[in-house]
Amino acid sequence: TWTPNSFAETTVANLKAQLGDDKVVLGLSGGVDSSVAAVLLNKAIGKNLYCIFVNNGLLRKNEFESVLKQYEGMGLNVKGVDASARFMKALAGEKDPEKKRKAIGNAFIEVFDDEAHKIENVTWLAQGTIYPDVIESVSVNGGPSAKIKSHHNVGGLPDFMKLKIVEPLRMIFKDEVRRVGASMGIDKELLGRHPFPGPGLAIRILGDVDEEKVRILQEVDAIFIDGLKEHGLYNKVWQAGAMLLPVNSVGVMGDERTYEKVVALRAVESTDGMTADWVNLPYEFLQKTSNNIINKVKGVNRVVYDISSKPPATIEWE
Ligand code: XMP
Repeated sequence: TWTPNSFAETTVANLKAQLGDDKVVLGLSGGVDSSVAAVLLNKAIGKNLYCIFVNNGLLRKNEFESVLKQYEGMGLNVKGVDASARFMKALAGEKDPEKKRKAIGNAFIEVFDDEAHKIENVTWLAQGTIYPDVIESVSVNGGPSAKIKSHHNVGGLPDFMKLKIVEPLRMIFKDEVRRVGASMGIDKELLGRHPFPGPGLAIRILGDVDEEKVRILQEVDAIFIDGLKEHGLYNKVWQAGAMLLPVNSVGVMGDERTYEKVVALRAVESTDGMTADWVNLPYEFLQKTSNNIINKVKGVNRVVYDISSKPPATIEWE
């Protein structure tokens, strides 16, 4: 019978045999899949696993620093690369959702390729691909790996793509990945994290992206997500986040008229992201969250809640 322990033991033994003294590079995203893949590989080959965690400047508030620390605490050989400026430049003035995704994907590949080149004699690329990614020809919900795949059709592959591929999770499902991670002692909070898209907050900022908009959305998102955790709602929701709309609305503050941004909150129930229902969050929670956001985040004077299911509405707004 399959148990998380036996899977982990067998996989580590197989990785040892397969990789020997070879060097492996892996892109960590902060998500469950790449983290569990990294821990398995770390058990098998230790310092010969070179993890790269890229800050694209589009992560949640403080996420780069805190997740990097967490990875270091797990004993991973990880390098944090702050490439925010490069991503921001690649996105400047771009309004089209698909072009934004392409710009981010390309910037990621450039940064990853640069970093992979700094590792001497690396011969393998590890990916956190899981079984659903394998069966879906085009994965939308992978981290770095999905972006790498979508780059195949662009031609002129970067050098790191010539590496041999190792995918320790390619035969198992997400819930099994979580159980394997738990059996190896990976932090519950990390294993229970909501899915987060590779392009990050860029596809939750409608229209063009700049640093100020990212800052505003990070504040709003942090209030929403921390609130869900405080109210015991985080684990009841499959995915949640906030969208920054490209419109201003009129409001009042004291006896001043304001003309500021609108944010939309979204929380969904789903099993695989292919279909989703909006979550009936308690009114009291929504009320508190809305007040907190409007009182604490400068530049936002209105909060709305998204009550659309997928299909036809997608989870992300772009
Ligand atoms: P949609 O918005 O298509 O999202 O209903 C379904 C799931 O996929 C995630 N998503 C992405 N993940 N790159 C990713 O890595 C992307 O470009 C991307 N677009 C959407 C989304 O967060 C949700 O979990």
